[in-house]
Amino acid sequence: MPETRPARVLVVDDTEPARYATARTLQRAGFTVVEAGSGEEALRQIAEGGIDAVVLDIKLPDISGLEVCRTIKRDHPDIMVLQLSATFVSSGDRIKGLDSGADYYLGQPVEPAELVATLGALMRIRAAEAAVRLSEARFRAIAETMPQVVWSARPNGTYEYFNSRWYAYTGMPPGTLSTAAARQGWCAAVQTDDQARVTNSWLHSLASGEPFEMECRLRSGDGSYRWFLARALPIHNEAGAIIRWFGTCTDIEDIINAREVLARSQTELEAMVAVRTREIAEANERLRHERAFSELLVASSADGIIAYDDDLRYTLWNKAMERISGLSASNALGRTVGDLLPFLRGEPEQAMRRVLQGETAHMRDQRYTFADSGREGWLEADCTPLRATNGEIIGAIAFIRDITERRAVEEQLRQTQKLEALGQLTSGVAHDFNNLLSAILGNLDLIRKHLPASNSDLTHLLDLALQGAERGQTLTQRLLAFARRQDLRPGLVDIPQLLVGMRELIQRSIGPTITIELRLADDLEPACVDANQLELAILNLAVNSRDAMPAGGALVIAADNLVVGDREQLAPSPGHYVCLSITDNGTGMDEKTMARAVDPFFTTKGPGKGTGLGLSMVHGLAAQSGGFLRLHSRIGVGTTVEILLPRAVVRRPRRVDSEQMPAMKSGRLTVLLVEDDWLIALSTQAMIEDLGHVVHTATSATKALDLLRSGPTFDLVLTDQAMPGMTGVELAGHIRRQWPGLPVLLATGYAELPMLSAAELPRLAKPFRQDDLAAAIYQLMQQVQTKRR
Ligand SMILES: Nc1ncnc2c1ncn2[C@@H]1O[C@H](COP(=O)(O)OP(=O)(O)OP(=O)(O)O)[C@@H](O)[C@H]1O
Ligand SMILES: [Mg+2]
Repeated sequence: MPETRPARVLVVDDTEPARYATARTLQRAGFTVVEAGSGEEALRQIAEGGIDAVVLDIKLPDISGLEVCRTIKRDHPDIMVLQLSATFVSSGDRIKGLDSGADYYLGQPVEPAELVATLGALMRIRAAEAAVRLSEARFRAIAETMPQVVWSARPNGTYEYFNSRWYAYTGMPPGTLSTAAARQGWCAAVQTDDQARVTNSWLHSLASGEPFEMECRLRSGDGSYRWFLARALPIHNEAGAIIRWFGTCTDIEDIINAREVLARSQTELEAMVAVRTREIAEANERLRHERAFSELLVASSADGIIAYDDDLRYTLWNKAMERISGLSASNALGRTVGDLLPFLRGEPEQAMRRVLQGETAHMRDQRYTFADSGREGWLEADCTPLRATNGEIIGAIAFIRDITERRAVEEQLRQTQKLEALGQLTSGVAHDFNNLLSAILGNLDLIRKHLPASNSDLTHLLDLALQGAERGQTLTQRLLAFARRQDLRPGLVDIPQLLVGMRELIQRSIGPTITIELRLADDLEPACVDANQLELAILNLAVNSRDAMPAGGALVIAADNLVVGDREQLAPSPGHYVCLSITDNGTGMDEKTMARAVDPFFTTKGPGKGTGLGLSMVHGLAAQSGGFLRLHSRIGVGTTVEILLPRAVVRRPRRVDSEQMPAMKSGRLTVLLVEDDWLIALSTQAMIEDLGHVVHTATSATKALDLLRSGPTFDLVLTDQAMPGMTGVELAGHIRRQWPGLPVLLATGYAELPMLSAAELPRLAKPFRQDDLAAAIYQLMQQVQTKRR
């Protein structure tokens, strides 16, 4: 604060004139003057206050001027003291005066101008000192109120001042600036790790005068460390020299922590983002896989899969559905359920709506017709709601199985079972009938043989009877074939060879208006079947085709290898087959005709024209040979009949070459005939005797064994197979054990012989004619002779 009032000067002198003169001089110079005549008075006046300077005479009556000066300076150091000495002073006096605290010393007599000038100078000094004290006080006030540590240092770096925060933080006793630690100042509190960095930087600032700034950890009184920002700025004088450094240390621990937390959370955040990004990428990848997988499932499913939305519009239509419906997905998607499948209108559509409410719906044996393609058939469907992950229903999905084929197969299976039952019934009748025919034919043959050639009328009648009986025989053959009770001789059959061989015959049977094309696979495997019966079957089929193509057409006979899987229900077992098919482009059959075509006696050809046994026979042959029959037909398009025969795996059996057989004379043999049917027995006996042999007849196997033991020596046993008690095969077994060399010929119309033993026995198919019998006996005896040789 600048001085506004004139300085107030106390003039102390015990000599009144001198005091007066001095006072006057000062008053004239503008000072306010008070006076005191003694030391005591002077001190009292000073104690009252308001005195800026004292002009003090050394010599006082009561207290010495030096003492007064000391007291003033002790109690009021800001009061300027100018000592006036006696007339003559030595330099020792001057020293004493200044030592007592006086600010200046003048010797008497004093020139008034010198006194005024000296006092003016002293007052200026006082004002300057007051200003410094004030600024110092201000600085301290500010420094103490600041929330930071504040310090100052000399240009050489020694510390002058620390505010109380420093002492509070470090725990050092206030004002201890002289200790070694204090001399190092705040640098002593810097954490060891930071020390070199901080000290170097501070020394650099001291040397260069550049401002100092650094972050470091400072030790607190309790030994813990906190982060501080240390800063220092140089203060220059007018000449530009540094006179002082001012510094602060600001606690930034919280900022550092916050910064660290921030940095940490930023890294954590980044790590979390990276993890999440990876998880999302993985989830996406999984989703892509799952999607691809489910798309693959949907696309490759054999079942039709469709989905529809709330408006009952298709949102999914897979490949299988395209196949079933004949409609592409692009055609179906977006269209409504009832629009595309008119048969769903009404109740089924209601059920499909209820699925959207959470129910399920099932359809069984539903007939279908697709709107655009006109595809028809039968289906089964299961429909369930389609839910989002939160459970909300977002549509429905349905799995659709086309059961058209299955139904057809089931139908065929029913048909097969029906045929099986019919076959059993038929076989019984045919068997008896066969026996009767055997007797009739046998006897007619004999009568004809012995009838004189001249009797032509009788011969003619006899021939008619024979023809009738022969037709009856063909009929029973077909019946037995259908009933699968034929006496088959299966063997390796080279089908191409067989077909090429019969081509002529077929062409003759079907006439010139129908062309024949053979399509034969190069690598065709041989089939295992009775060749003669197969030829008969092919002829039957060719004739059926001819009848279906009255105006001519094309007949394709094809043969190929075929592997049949376990889905083929008609097949007796899965495996390798040879498929022989006969295709025509004739009238074809409607469903009803197809369903019954194989039934015995079913014919559409009118009474007397067809027996209805053709397909029955073919079917029976295929089944008995271990194969099966398949029919495909469309009205107006044509018919394909497929005979599937098992691929041959057995070796071709040695065949007796009948063409090289010499005249069938075997000499006179003693034959044991075993036959339970007396009619057959008599007729057969007549045939054998007519061949010149001796016959003994037994009506059962047991009786035959008796005869063998007790009777004549036999050359040959001819036995029926089907007999009550012991069968022909069983009898043959006994004979082989007890009379090993005795040949046995088995007469049978049945094919259900135990195959192993039957294969070893020579056989004669019933009904047989005398020629057949003669050939069989001849062959057998030839074999016996070859063995004996
Ligand atoms: N290729 C075909 N094309 C059209 N219909 C056929 C064909 N084959 C068979 N059929 C039908 O099946 C019926 C039964 O045939 P199957 O061969 O069993 O007896 P059929 O031919 O009528 O009499 P048969 O064989 O004694 O002359 C036939 O009457 C005919 O209606
Ligand atoms: Mg026919």
